[in-house]
This record gives sequence, C-alpha cells and structure tokens, in this order.
Amino acid sequence: MSQKKVSRSNVLVALDVGTTKVCTLIGLINNKEIEILGVGSHPSYGLKKGCVINIDKTVKSIRCSLEEAKLMAGINNLDHATIGIAGNHIYSFNSSGVVAIKSKEVTEEDVERVIDAAKAIVIPSDREILHVLPQEFRVDNTSGIKDPVGMFGVRLEVNVHVVTGQTTLIQNLIRCVDQAGIQAQKIILQPVASSKSVLSNEEKELGVVLVDIGGGTTDLAIWKEGSLIHSQIIPVGGNHFTNDLAVALKVAHTEAERIKINHGSIIPENVNKSSHITVHGVAGMKPREVEQKFITKVLNSRADELLAVIKDIIESNNLDRELNAGYVITGGGALIKDLVPYAEYVLEKPVKLGYPVSFGGMTTVMQDPKLSTVLGLLLESLDDDFLESTITEEEPRVKEKDIISKFSESLKSVFKEIF
Ligand SMILES: Nc1ncnc2c1ncn2[C@@H]1O[C@H](COP(=O)(O)OP(=O)(O)OP(=O)(O)O)[C@@H](O)[C@H]1O
Ligand SMILES: [Mg+2]
Repeated sequence: MSQKKVSRSNVLVALDVGTTKVCTLIGLINNKEIEILGVGSHPSYGLKKGCVINIDKTVKSIRCSLEEAKLMAGINNLDHATIGIAGNHIYSFNSSGVVAIKSKEVTEEDVERVIDAAKAIVIPSDREILHVLPQEFRVDNTSGIKDPVGMFGVRLEVNVHVVTGQTTLIQNLIRCVDQAGIQAQKIILQPVASSKSVLSNEEKELGVVLVDIGGGTTDLAIWKEGSLIHSQIIPVGGNHFTNDLAVALKVAHTEAERIKINHGSIIPENVNKSSHITVHGVAGMKPREVEQKFITKVLNSRADELLAVIKDIIESNNLDRELNAGYVITGGGALIKDLVPYAEYVLEKPVKLGYPVSFGGMTTVMQDPKLSTVLGLLLESLDDDFLESTITEEEPRVKEKDIISKFSESLKSVFKEIF
C-alpha cells in the first residue's frame, strides 16, 4: 500500500511502554468514534518495575513498536501520542478546594478556578502533578454534584484525586518517546487507562478495584460513585512470579516463564499429586522431572504476598465497605491459572478477570487483558480536549473506509502472530 500523508487531526496514537512489552495502537477518528488501524508490539528491555532504566533500549523498543503499527496502518507520519505511566514513584492523594461563585451561576471558569484551588498544594520540588481528577462538587450545601455548570449558589467546592510522579522519571519516559520520533502529548496513569477499557460505569458507581498485574508492577485504581478515589502502584508484577520459579527450579528466566504460563497455577490443591513437569536446566544441565505441586507452591507464595499488600491498602484506607462490585483483575499477570478464585478467597469479595470491552473494529484476539492499558489509552485520547482545538476540517482526512476494509483482516492475523 502506498504511504499516505496523514494529518494529525484525525489520527490517534496510544503508546503503552510496559516492563515486558511496548504496545502501540493507531486509531482513526470517525464521527467521534475510533477505528483501530494499526497495532505494534515489541518486547521491552529498558524498564524495571515500570520505570525507564536504559534510555537506548527503551527508545529502540518504542521505535520498533511504532514502526510495526505504522506499517500496518499505512501511515507514515505520526506526531503525537497518548502515553501511559506507572512505577513506584507515583504517589496519589485526595484534596479539596473552595471558591466564591462569581456571578451567582456556576460557569466553566468557576469550575477551572476551584480545581486550580484544589491543586494549589505544596508538593515536593522533585515531583509534578500528572492528574487532578474531580470527584464531586458542592454548591453551597448541596453535595454529590458531578457537573455544577449552570447551578445557582455563592460557594463552590470540589474534592479531587491528585496523581503525582517524580519529575526526572517522567522526563526520562518523555525523552524516550521523543527520541523514538513521536511527541508525548498526554500522559495517563496506566490503571486509569486500563479502567477505561475494562470497567463498566455501573462497576465504577458501585465501587470497584481495578487491579492491573503487569510484568513489573501491579497498578490499582479504586472507583466509587463514578470517581477515582484511590490509586497506587505496587512494585510487584508477573515477572516476580517468574523470577521466583527461576530461583526455586534453578532454571533460566525464559524456561521459568514457559513453565509458569504452560504449567503454573496458584492453588496447590487443584494440582494432581502425582503430576510431574519436565524442566530444562541452565546450559549443560540435563532435563529433570519436578512435581507440579512444587511449582504451584512457589507461585502461591508470591500470590499470597501480592494479595496481602492489596488487602492492606484497602484496609488501611478504610475502603473495604466501599467495594460493592469487588475486584476486576487485568494485565498479563492476571492470566496465571487459578489466580481469580484464589484472590476471591483471600480478598473475600467478588473477583473477575477483566477483559477490554470491544470497540473500533477490535477483533476477539485483541480482547486480551495484556492490552487493557493501550486500548484504554486510545479511548482516553479521544476524550481529550486537544482534539477539539486541533481538528480542522481543511486538513485532509484519511480515506477511512479504504483503510479499514484493507486492514480489518490483517489485524486479526497480525495479532495472532504477536500474542
Ligand atoms: N498466559 C499467561 N499466564 C501467566 N502469566 C502470563 C500469561 N501471559 C502473560 N503473562 C505474564 O504477564 C506479565 C506481562 O503482563 P503485561 O503485558 O500486562 O505487562 P507490561 O504492561 O509489559 O508491564 P507493566 O505494566 O508492569 O509495565 C508477564 O509477567 C507475563 O509472564
Ligand atoms: Mg502494563
């Protein structure tokens, strides 16, 4: 297909720079909806626990992922992307602000001022604010308001959830994206993005914990009455399960990963007592037989530790009674066998595996928990205000139908190859 010169106005790019993979999605805005045109995925080698530790390797992974998506979409020039951020440096808290309503009726400007007031808090000089997400507004004595514009009153208050990150680590990620040839237009906390693609509005209203178990981190986003009330990054992910197996079995990381995915489980009681697995030792060692129950016990200990941390976060923030919709676990790490029933047992709440909801011509292959973040980033990029200001009808649009029909079949086959 000939390379099309595409304007930035109708193309969206989502970039999930994860610890195990860098994933890119290219979408086309079509009547305020997104059509997915291109996908790229490349192993990630430059991150540890969600943070960039090697710029060159990260840039290379981003470039490869971008190129793959561009090739598939038949789009040559992309200039900005919505990117996800996580890592142990993220710190979130709730804050509030109050202002006098200027002319009796709440205007957009009053809303902006009250949110500014809520974020006018002293944060350490090495940190910066990533998100200020309104939870509820109060006009005089009326609380629980989601959109106060047009309401009459004299006093406007807001409760917000503030997400901050360490400036240098944010800059490292932005620099990598920049060096890979695309500008980081918007940065979104990864579990906020995953929530967007996985959770229903009803779950967010009832009270739910989104748990995204990635390779290097487990990211929490806790919702109630439609608002984000708590977020936190735990520096333990699926790779820690693999590392534990590698140490316990004295095998290479790749062999441990194979065993975890093909033979791993979290509940030892569900494994046949006599079941054995052939394990290939490091170079020069003979293959040997290992009890499957032993493998399960190793994985169970790590799951116990991770679930205890999650439980502690919920209890120490007094959130237990808020969670009427329980937990939704997503991310590649959620795919480990029997994690969901075990989590339900430990957390004493309903737990389900979170799959991204279908949109934009997604194939069933794309409804994969590993893709929750990148799909959520694409959806978040559509919600963005900057679209309103940058879409200009004079700029040429891509011939949507041509591209979509040409690539809908290839999307399926490429995803089969990647995942
Ligand atoms: N079928 C499976 N069974 C068990 N674990 C799996 C399976 N598939 C993937 N994983 C694990 O999922 C993890 C990767 O998940 P994911 O792709 O969501 O991570 P990431 O987004 O790259 O990392 P992070 O979000 O921590 O930066 C790896 O630890 C991998 O071993
Ligand atoms: Mg991830």
